[in-house]
Amino acid sequence: MYTVQLTGKVALIVGSGSGIGKAAAILLASEGADVMLADIDPEGAMKVAETIRQNGGRAAIVQGDMTKEEDAEKMVQAALEQFGQVDILVNVAGGSQGRFIRERLRPFAESVKEEWDRIIDVNLTGARNCTRAVINHMLERGSGKIINMSSMAGVSGVANAVDYSAAKAGLIGFTKALAQEVAPYGIQVNSISPGGVYTERLQAVMERHKREGSGRTFDVSKLSTPDEIARIILFLAAADVKNLNGINIEVHGARRNM
Ligand SMILES: NC(=O)c1ccc[n+]([C@@H]2O[C@H](COP(=O)([O-])OP(=O)(O)OC[C@H]3O[C@@H](n4cnc5c(N)ncnc54)[C@H](O)[C@@H]3O)[C@@H](O)[C@H]2O)c1
Repeated sequence: MYTVQLTGKVALIVGSGSGIGKAAAILLASEGADVMLADIDPEGAMKVAETIRQNGGRAAIVQGDMTKEEDAEKMVQAALEQFGQVDILVNVAGGSQGRFIRERLRPFAESVKEEWDRIIDVNLTGARNCTRAVINHMLERGSGKIINMSSMAGVSGVANAVDYSAAKAGLIGFTKALAQEVAPYGIQVNSISPGGVYTERLQAVMERHKREGSGRTFDVSKLSTPDEIARIILFLAAADVKNLNGINIEVHGARRNM
């Protein structure tokens, strides 16, 4: 039987208070990893930490906004102080709309520069900041796994989300280029590009469309679950997966525009 053991490994998961990041934190902890939960919203992260501890795992939380370089450094520092090392960095925080991002999508012809900047910050610069904050530690240790959460929007593009599509495409480029730089030092950098994932955030978006009678419908049965994406994160984090590097894993069930 194939088993993944993360005992003795430390994972810093940025954006772990809800959705995919929450599922990943709970799964990695259940496989033995010590988990530093980083999120702009400490309430969600606190609940996730409680769940992990109740399951017998080890978790700590740090509040911060990964779009700010000093907060990204604080997140890495907190992981080092609490657990002594960082083996796995998962950059999950991001999204096209939501509480800390923006209210809704809009056509490019109505786009505003402030929103563009925010979307690029949350979906690209944040991952850059957290990676920059941890990379020297990983280089010194000669090992590390960096997993970036992109989106099918970054592969195929999504109408009314030009900024988000551009940011997520940028994150794939970031992943591939950095992998080439750091592969010789034992570090792997990969990304995952889901189509729709049935998170609470997506549920809220779906409810809004229904309320407003937008006509946009979603086939929930075709969406991935956060747990499915968490399993792919776990696979990329596994110690014995050594040569998968600079890869973007598309998760869309052969429906590229889901
Ligand atoms: N849900 C989907 O359908 C879907 C599809 C493709 C890609 N993705 C990507 O997956 C990732 C997670 O999506 P989700 O649906 O689980 O979202 P989510 O909103 O449920 O979770 C994101 C978490 O990140 C945190 N966060 C937001 N901004 C932050 C910041 N600046 N600093 C630190 N933490 C911050 C939030 O508080 C939240 O806990 C995102 O990058 C999103 O773009 C989601």
